Amino acid sequence: VIDIRKLYGQTGMFTYDPGFMATAACESGITYIDGDKGQLMYRGYPIDQLAQKCDFMDVCYLILNGDLPNADQKQEFDSLVTNHTMVQEQMQHFLRGFRPDAHPMAILTGLVGALSAFYHDSTDITNPHHRHVSAIRLIAKLPTLVAMAYKYSLGQPFIYPKNDLSYTGNFLRMMFATPCEDYKVNEVVERALDRIFILHADHEQNASTSTVRLCGSSGTNPFAAIAAGVACLWGPAHGGANEACLNMLEELQANGGIDKVGEFMEKVKDKNSGVRLMGFGHRVYKNYDPRAKLMQETCKEVLEALGLENDPLFKLAMELERIALEDPYFVERKLYPNVDFYSGIVQRAIGIPTSLFTAIFALARTVGWIAQWNEMLSDPDYKIGRPRQLYVGPTQRDVPDQR
Ligand code: ACO
Repeated sequence: VIDIRKLYGQTGMFTYDPGFMATAACESGITYIDGDKGQLMYRGYPIDQLAQKCDFMDVCYLILNGDLPNADQKQEFDSLVTNHTMVQEQMQHFLRGFRPDAHPMAILTGLVGALSAFYHDSTDITNPHHRHVSAIRLIAKLPTLVAMAYKYSLGQPFIYPKNDLSYTGNFLRMMFATPCEDYKVNEVVERALDRIFILHADHEQNASTSTVRLCGSSGTNPFAAIAAGVACLWGPAHGGANEACLNMLEELQANGGIDKVGEFMEKVKDKNSGVRLMGFGHRVYKNYDPRAKLMQETCKEVLEALGLENDPLFKLAMELERIALEDPYFVERKLYPNVDFYSGIVQRAIGIPTSLFTAIFALARTVGWIAQWNEMLSDPDYKIGRPRQLYVGPTQRDVPDQR
């Protein structure tokens, strides 16, 4: 690296921290992670307690408002969200412009951004009431948009929200009912998906949340900022990992299954192979991701409830985990299963196609994104995000007279 700052007379100190490994970009009171201990808390409540004692609406309220709701607050919040589950009918025309085989994340990025065109009455970001309305709209409409993207890919009619169902039950119905046949929500499945939503609701300053904050710091509207988060989440190193993980398990199963696990692990450890064990490793957790433990439990419950106890992919995942946790390569690098290692198996068992996994993650993370965005804007001293760089290009030179 050439320190060119002197050449241009720049002064002051910069920290050079690629990947922001050691840079706090903000203060936040929403989520706490202790990566060494494998701890995760929303607003001070441990994730395992929230997953066991609360539903996703409790957690949304908590993340947005700072505390768990009492019974009246819960009822009011539920009905507020429920009242916003429909999307403007014109959005269907916009959706129909996409190729039906487009990736759902491509569609979702477009649809979420397009909400700003349909709901511009709540985009005054200086007004806390408008910010709250936008938050509720986004939380309420994401399930509808994800289900619409799914139905569109199947060529089936859209199923409108049914507001006497729970948030998660309504989503399942919009996904799986047809005009010919209603969908009876299975309680174990509903609870499992609700738990997936809880576990993905926020995770402090990960790549997509930092993207939402950076994008929102310019003063753009909330729908544009959340669309940026959706786009960032899509990558295989972030929210796309659950899809990549299930694809990896299916490929391994098709090529020998458990018998070939040893060979596969050798490939993972060979740096020249470019193969990673998807669903393993985390930038912050250098211990077991607490969400992965809960997801493994949920996975067992769902497979049992659906009579899929002998699911070969679950067995394969357990075997990969067992080998990895004993292998010095993973032990020395503190690589443990992350939340995505088992979530794909649960979603597949529920009937959700692999290509929709990241969209489900986006649906759940929307509450975290919007709460972080609101937290930033509520700080009177917030500044536009503007990282610096170390310039390593040519020094000043003249364009030749004859070209
Ligand atoms: N398989 C094999 N080796 C791995 C893996 C893996 N999944 N993850 C990390 N490593 C190795 C790296 O090769 C590197 O080895 P080296 O020190 O010998 O060079 C070391 O462990 C550190 O890895 P980094 O990539 O530097 O760690 P970083 O913190 O930057 O990356 C990440 C974290 C991106 C999550 C990484 O572990 C990964 O790619 N995992 C697989 C994808 C995945 O599951 N992502 C989901 C993340 S969780 C979420 O978004 C919800």
